[in-house]
Amino acid sequence: MRQLILAANWKMHKTVDDAEFFLKRFMEEPSGITGLELVFCPPFTALYPMAQLIKETPFVLGAQNMHWEKEGAYTGEISPLMLRELGVRYVILGHSERRRFFREQPQEISLKVASAFNFGLNPILCIGETEEERRQGHTEKVLCRQLREALADSLHIDKEHASKLVIAYEPVWAIGTGLAASGKDAGEAAAIIRSYLAELLDKERAAVIRIQYGGSVNSDNILDFVSLPDIDGALVGGASLKPGSFKELILALDRLRRS
Ligand code: 13P
Repeated sequence: MRQLILAANWKMHKTVDDAEFFLKRFMEEPSGITGLELVFCPPFTALYPMAQLIKETPFVLGAQNMHWEKEGAYTGEISPLMLRELGVRYVILGHSERRRFFREQPQEISLKVASAFNFGLNPILCIGETEEERRQGHTEKVLCRQLREALADSLHIDKEHASKLVIAYEPVWAIGTGLAASGKDAGEAAAIIRSYLAELLDKERAAVIRIQYGGSVNSDNILDFVSLPDIDGALVGGASLKPGSFKELILALDRLRRS
């Protein structure tokens, strides 16, 4: 059984003050989070203070990027060791915004994924096609290529490590646009991802990898995705920024679990 995983990607939002304010509001009335792994991915600067605030809670922390080396002359970078020291458990890698705005290359993403495993961090590997790629019918080709490239240095992982890997299917055209994929499109993409993972690794390891959908997820549409057999959660941007809207997502998931 794969555990449901909901991750909040705050991107470049929230100062330390804002993050603390959010968490205090969010924790005022804890509810409905059993059976769900809840990951907060704030900016680097808020990781340490948030780690202190969530110590006694079931929430876990994720970072939004990292370098693959443990240390070195890499001005401006953050290493996996530094993240682990703060109690970070997950790290988002290969987000389309990093690929697009920071020219992150497939080989770098592959090194980062392998390094995350080496340092005991769970990678949330983002893949997804652009609008143009989908229109031209290249979605499957793009998803398989991105998986092949990003896992090139991690093909040897055992089942235990595979169960820590999360693939976030985030169609680029659905991110921040309010135009989420349909349940049908997301379900088809997730099925493609799982069957290609079985080719790359094997069926047994592919079966334990969790797949999230990301892209304009909100409390009205989240059940369209997480009720699908191959989708095990969501990676949420905009709707995770306010305690109220994020709580609503969790309540929606809770209703699904109870039904
Ligand atoms: P939105 O939920 O704002 O579309 O962002 C999705 C995303 O990029 C999460 O990583």
